[in-house]
Amino acid sequence: MPNPSNHNDTPTTLFLALLGADGDLAWRLVVPALYDLYRDGGLPERFAIVGVDRKPDTSEALRAHYREGIEQFSRLGLGDEATWNAFAARIDYLAADIEQAGAVLAPHLAQRAIDWGEPPLAVYYLAIPPRLFATAARGLAASGLAVDRERARLVVEKPLGHDLASFLALDADLRAHFQEGQIYRMDHFLGKETVQNLLALRFANPIFEPIWDRRYIDHVAITVAETLGVEHRAGYYEGAGALRDMVQNHLLQIFCLVAMEPPSRFDADNLRDRKMDLLTALRPIPAASVDEFAARGQYGAGWIHGAKMPGYRQEEGVAPASNIETYAAIKLLVDNWRWQDVPFYLRTGKRMAEAVSEVSIRFRPVPHQAWPAGTTSDHGPVRLVLRLHPDEGMDLKLNLKVPGAHFALSQQDLRFTYREAFQSAPPKPYETLLSAVLAGDQSLFMRADQVASAWQLLDPVVQSWAARPGDFPNYAAGSWGPESAERLINRDGRGWLTPTLPPAE
Ligand code: BG6
Repeated sequence: MPNPSNHNDTPTTLFLALLGADGDLAWRLVVPALYDLYRDGGLPERFAIVGVDRKPDTSEALRAHYREGIEQFSRLGLGDEATWNAFAARIDYLAADIEQAGAVLAPHLAQRAIDWGEPPLAVYYLAIPPRLFATAARGLAASGLAVDRERARLVVEKPLGHDLASFLALDADLRAHFQEGQIYRMDHFLGKETVQNLLALRFANPIFEPIWDRRYIDHVAITVAETLGVEHRAGYYEGAGALRDMVQNHLLQIFCLVAMEPPSRFDADNLRDRKMDLLTALRPIPAASVDEFAARGQYGAGWIHGAKMPGYRQEEGVAPASNIETYAAIKLLVDNWRWQDVPFYLRTGKRMAEAVSEVSIRFRPVPHQAWPAGTTSDHGPVRLVLRLHPDEGMDLKLNLKVPGAHFALSQQDLRFTYREAFQSAPPKPYETLLSAVLAGDQSLFMRADQVASAWQLLDPVVQSWAARPGDFPNYAAGSWGPESAERLINRDGRGWLTPTLPPAE
């Protein structure tokens, strides 16, 4: 399986240009992850990090700013001063507008190639708003920085478009200058250990694949629930909403790993081809019956863990009559042999009762209940729960006999946790993904056709919701979401079930 820590084609020299060097993404996520990689020996001996942003600034100031970010957000912390100083000495700052980024970077890259005696791997990380992606790519290409197909790589992150048409336009702009094999479209969920572990679970163990289909599985529920609200991101979120922010990318990627066919090789294209087979087998959501397949919500005021939370419309920067959903649920049906008639229910929301993410695979009941008369039971459907957060791991929920003369059944957990098994914190997603970019491994990144398929699936929902005001707010902060989401699943005679929370310490 793709395992960036096993990458043996890590480059010998690296020139990493961070466009949007002053922004939050660079400060909070990218640079702390680079530092962790550095401390773990995951960066080549000779590397340079060159930040580009508009503000007139100095390299010294940028280093000080990044130091703070590393202190707050890196997994391994700053460590000793000598380590930090050695890393900081590799950071430089260039002030330039986005259109000029290519022009100011080109001489620096050329100089490094001379100093190091070889053209380095050049990674252009666009930590800038997506509306600037096309300009940045054009500028880089105009300065000759996209030409080396092997050594020039472009990293972009969502939101990649706001519907199918806008994604295709953006992608055409990028691909006018960079080839598909040079573009790394980040979905940070694909860098999460537990998400990658779905592949190991399914394909490294012989016991799951034989029952991983419509004969044994009744349905699958995927939940990504957050207690956080919109935070300081209203500017972005007001134009996005939960469906675009989470379902179009993260939840659909998890779905792909749960439901795709086994790849014949663990290389980027084979894996992504299998995902595409699945995405193209998804039954389209008819524009006329969106409400049968999707439910939306927006949180009102409420309480989470004893703290009073404002409603979404009262959050800073949010329009007082905002029609943006902070909760989205969809039902997916897959028209192929493996999954015919097995619904997949996906839900995500902000300000939910708990911060918990899991994949719950629910098996069909046994065909015949042969228990003695008077058997009591508190059992539910047998389930395999893959816990993505918190306390990453999995539970197999089995029905077992309660000790005693009377025959009684009760549901008990066979539990595995990463914490207990490996006793070390896994790398953060950005470390894993950056390491994969350096190694040229695209298996953890979204190919353009996947992104397009996801938009194609969701476009009818996006359009239908934009055209009709939601009945908002329709769930209280601290609840499990709106009633419409309950109806979505109850109509099929099923329920969401409360996610498996870790046992109290
Ligand atoms: C981001 C979304 O992609 O993922 C956020 O834009 C969300 O709205 C975040 O909070 C969740 O990621 P994580 O890694 O904290 O589970």
